[in-house]
Amino acid sequence: MGMNAIWQREGPRRALITGASSGIGEAFARLLAEEGWDLVLVARNEEELHRVAGVVHAQHQATAHVLPADLSRPESIAALASRLQQRNLMPDVLINNAGFGLMGAATVLPREEQLRIIDVNVRAVIDLTLRLLPHMQRQQAGGVLNVASLAGLMPGPGMAAYHASKAALISFSEALAEEMRPHGVQVSALCPGPVKTRFQERAGMRSSLLVRLLPASRPARVARAGWQGFKEGRVVIMPGLFAAFTAISTRFVPRLLLRRINARLTGVHQHAARHAVNTAHLPPARQEPSAAEPASTKSRQERQAD
Ligand SMILES: NC(=O)c1ccc[n+]([C@@H]2O[C@H](COP(=O)([O-])OP(=O)(O)OC[C@H]3O[C@@H](n4cnc5c(N)ncnc54)[C@H](OP(=O)(O)O)[C@@H]3O)[C@@H](O)[C@H]2O)c1
Repeated sequence: MGMNAIWQREGPRRALITGASSGIGEAFARLLAEEGWDLVLVARNEEELHRVAGVVHAQHQATAHVLPADLSRPESIAALASRLQQRNLMPDVLINNAGFGLMGAATVLPREEQLRIIDVNVRAVIDLTLRLLPHMQRQQAGGVLNVASLAGLMPGPGMAAYHASKAALISFSEALAEEMRPHGVQVSALCPGPVKTRFQERAGMRSSLLVRLLPASRPARVARAGWQGFKEGRVVIMPGLFAAFTAISTRFVPRLLLRRINARLTGVHQHAARHAVNTAHLPPARQEPSAAEPASTKSRQERQAD
């Protein structure tokens, strides 16, 4: 077990888990409740959060507060932070687990949806972390566990924004881990491979080779391995053999090959060929000047400035 004072602390300890309404987040909620932690559960689906709160209360008499929030919206993160202050619910440990991905060619998937991946997987994580870390630093205990992904260790054609978001999360976690080290605060990134949750369906990747070929872990196992690694003070945590093996391979396999393999697994080139490029966000295509109209007399520079 790491040196973190939180593991020795007597009395109630509280963890905030984002994305606690299903999958890995729900598994974390069950696991921490079993170990006697108080919980603050965050996600959009209030009904599902109450279901999870009910389960952990029934099974472990755990106190679980339900605070619904849409983490893709900066203002709801600010509102969440002030509710935590007002209700005296500042957590000792923050588990940034909420996140999602989308499979498809970057020029086909809607731009707004791809940006929302960054909002939830990166912006919300950094925002919430920066708001809650000072409390942990003052206590000289506790920390932040970010649920990243193996995706963050390699470029992902067919899931470009998702891979980029998880790469950012791993980098942010590693840097903060070092910054927080003298303050007795732990920061870690958990990097699971495929996990059996709603993630694949939401990402539109159920029929991809990636899902059909790669082994998927159960969320309870991933949460347990993540929590154990966090307790041991590990900064980048690979839950299980497949994750550890893949992580090591990414260091030796050339990036070009990793890109080609991932393009195959996501079928991105076929996706691009089957679908029209998404131009919803573009202004209408400019008409080529017809023979009847005189060609523009603007200089080349003026035209470029248009
Ligand atoms: N499953 C995998 O194969 C896999 C592999 C590696 C990493 N991960 C990562 O693991 C984390 C958990 O995913 P999961 O596999 O457990 O999938 P999941 O079952 O779909 O859970 C995702 C959670 O994130 C929440 N969420 C999504 N958008 C949100 C928003 N705008 N605001 C607040 N909460 C939001 C969802 O709750 P609501 O819908 O109620 O808001 C849900 O609780 C994600 O960060 C994912 O990237 C998953």
